[in-house]
Amino acid sequence: MPLYLVQNDITTMKTDAIVNAANESLLGGGGVDGAIHRAAGPDLLKECRGLGGCKTGQAKITKGYRLNAKYVIHTVGPVWRGGGHGEQKLLVSAYRSSLQLAFENRCSTVAFPLISSGVYGYPKDEALKIAVDTIADFLCLHDMTVYLVIFDRAAYTMDKILFADIAAYLADHYVAEQPVMHTNGQCQAGDFVCAPALEQISQPAVCAAACEGLEESLKHLDDTFTQMLLRKIEQSGMTDAQCYKKANIDRKLFSKIRSNIYYQPSKSTAMAFAVALQLPIEEARKMLEKAGFAFSHASKFDMIVEYFITRKNYNIFEINEALFAFDQNLLGG
Ligand code: AR6
Repeated sequence: MPLYLVQNDITTMKTDAIVNAANESLLGGGGVDGAIHRAAGPDLLKECRGLGGCKTGQAKITKGYRLNAKYVIHTVGPVWRGGGHGEQKLLVSAYRSSLQLAFENRCSTVAFPLISSGVYGYPKDEALKIAVDTIADFLCLHDMTVYLVIFDRAAYTMDKILFADIAAYLADHYVAEQPVMHTNGQCQAGDFVCAPALEQISQPAVCAAACEGLEESLKHLDDTFTQMLLRKIEQSGMTDAQCYKKANIDRKLFSKIRSNIYYQPSKSTAMAFAVALQLPIEEARKMLEKAGFAFSHASKFDMIVEYFITRKNYNIFEINEALFAFDQNLLGG
């Protein structure tokens, strides 16, 4: 089931549980811990007093009191001490223990802050990667919707090299609106036109073997989006569940699509399936066309997805990290 990156104050989340980045005493503190205790009210601290603390990497559960969430799952992430003191293992364990506890308490929606990435000093880009990878692993086997709540967008960082590479790709290929230059060389307010791309986008190497032959294509010319999707899933050898999980789409939405051959998906849903099915760019374009859309070089969202597809990186969570970093809608959901 899906993982969403959202910018929010976790104390306002209306999920079955929210996770608290606490310390081993479980008796409150600063950061998100302080905010959760303030929002939940004094009864939360009363219940925490009876828990006997919590070891780093483990988790305990309480009621949510005045919060919108039914439960608070308190976990303790590691303090960053340079990376050579088992920090990564402990951070993975903090996420896993919290998810396990949420699962045992029948939570279907859970919100996490970026554990350890504040007072405890874990580098934010690494903390984010561990969070996304660990949650994604868990979601392969469990039906749950998880929100990773980023409080301070300005402080949000993804892998710096990847970020720079995507930025360079956008600079080369993104067709932004530019002012019209008049013959006298002056611009007038309100004059905008789409500038031509500086260079034609390098046609990605289309893997002929992975694409359908002409004959096969013609046979399916009149397919709807749903028909094309189901056919591609079958061809891929994936089960439906494997596919919608890879697409970061929830089961209910998939059932709706499956049961209606005329279903009109959103652009992000259509793209998410193209990614999950690991379609080469030409096939991804066809799938979008079936849903009435096209890849546009005037859309950063499209360009970023195209960047990943042309590099054969079909990890939807990594793509969503990048989309989030560039302030775009996310794939799936
Ligand atoms: N909603 C969502 N995220 C938040 C919020 C909020 N309201 N407030 C802060 N964050 P931190 P840690 C983000 O320091 O690093 C406490 O004193 C914040 O931007 O709260 O695990 C405990 O008692 C950062 O990205 O937790 C411990 O002593 C992330 O939450 C210690 O801090 C985690 O920052 C735990 O440190």
